[in-house]
Formats: sequence, C-alpha cells, structure tokens
Amino acid sequence: MRLDKYLCDALGATRKEATIIIRSGDVTVNDEVKKSGSVKVTDDCVVEWQGRTIPKPGPRYFMLFKPDGFVCSHEDSSNQTAFALLDEVKIDALHFAGRLDVDTTGLVLITDDGQWSHRITSPKRKCEKTYRVWLVDPIGEDYAEKLAEGVELRNEKEPTLPAKLEIVNADENELLLTITEGKYHQVKRMFAALGNKVEHLHRERIGAIELDYSLEPGEYRSLTEEEIASVWN
Ligand code: URA
Repeated sequence: MRLDKYLCDALGATRKEATIIIRSGDVTVNDEVKKSGSVKVTDDCVVEWQGRTIPKPGPRYFMLFKPDGFVCSHEDSSNQTAFALLDEVKIDALHFAGRLDVDTTGLVLITDDGQWSHRITSPKRKCEKTYRVWLVDPIGEDYAEKLAEGVELRNEKEPTLPAKLEIVNADENELLLTITEGKYHQVKRMFAALGNKVEHLHRERIGAIELDYSLEPGEYRSLTEEEIASVWN
C-alpha cells in the first residue's frame, strides 16, 4: 500500500491532508523519514508520525489496567479520563466495551469496533464478567445461594440473573463474583441488596479475556488475535 493511502485509511485523512502531513517531514517508516506519498508500506512496516505509531488501518482493540480515580468516558469535569492513559492517535474514535466506576480497578477493553463491543455489552449475549470483590462486612453463608437465585435490586423490576460466588479469603471478606449482566453499579447494588457494602471492586475477566498482570495499573496493550477472536466465538 502507498504511504499516503495508509495515512488516509489509518487517520481518516483526505489524500490532500495526508500529502501535507508527509511533506512536513514528521512521518517515518521503519525509523526513516519519508517525504513521498508513493513510498510502499508493507505489513511489517512501522509507520510513525511525530513519534507516535500510526496503527495499521483497521479496527483497534486494547486492554487497559484501569487504576482507581479514572472515569470511563471521554470527558469529565472532576476526574481524569482513562483515555488520557492511551498514547494513541484518533482517541475520539475509541470507546469502552463496558465501563467501570471511577473507583473500580482492573480490566477494561477499548476499541473502535462497535460490532465487536456490542457482542460484549449486549444483554442478550450474557457475556460473563468476573470481579474480585472485597466487602466491608463478612461474607454471609447464604450469599452464594442467594446470588445464584438472583437478588432484587432497588428500582429494577426483574431480579438479577444467576451469579456465581467463589470465596477467596473469608477472613479478608474477599471473593470472586461472576455475572452476565452489566447494569449501573451492578455489583455494588447486588451486595447492598444482601445488606453488605463493597469496599473495593476489581475486574479480572470479560468473556475469555483475562487481565494481563504483566501490566501495571495505568498501562495498556493491544489485544492478541486470539483475544479478539474469542469475542466472536
Ligand atoms: N459493578 C459495579 O458496581 N461497579 C463497576 O464498576 C462494575 C460493576
């Protein structure tokens, strides 16, 4: 593919804009400045503009280890947005495939592929999400049974769908909860319905995609082909 076509497809630029960007001398292919739009770009080329990698044209998929204190939206008047943690071009085109509360940490998936994220967020698909939960009060003996049956949340007509609870450390009130819904503040409201309170919430898994603990909080990486494909299966 020609370099100018690559920039048009990757950045959504017009051919004229791509030509201006290339002529500015800020575009490199495999670390060499290129000033002609006719330069050939192959699959193994790394194209950078002003030091930032221009992703190959096509959808983008990332996992982010969301730290505490960041919101999953493009703008917020009082908190930093999690998008600020991404060193990417065309941030406006990206969205979260399922948000976390500002104080919840862990796995968030970010993409510009709406059909792909719909497979994760559509209530019909019942995509599993696993959360590590620390409660304020001890884990009740009847919690596993009640959550498997479904609990009544305030302002909801239907009880929650069956959820799976696994105790990790009873002394620390620590457990894993797997749910297939994504209602507003769902996990916090589920434990409120049981008379308890969530101290801290951390997402570890969405479908078959697990949080990569080689990432530090605030770091992100591209998803692997297998991780992307797992959502279509
Ligand atoms: N449930 C919650 O209550 N908060 C989250 O951030 C995610 C699930």
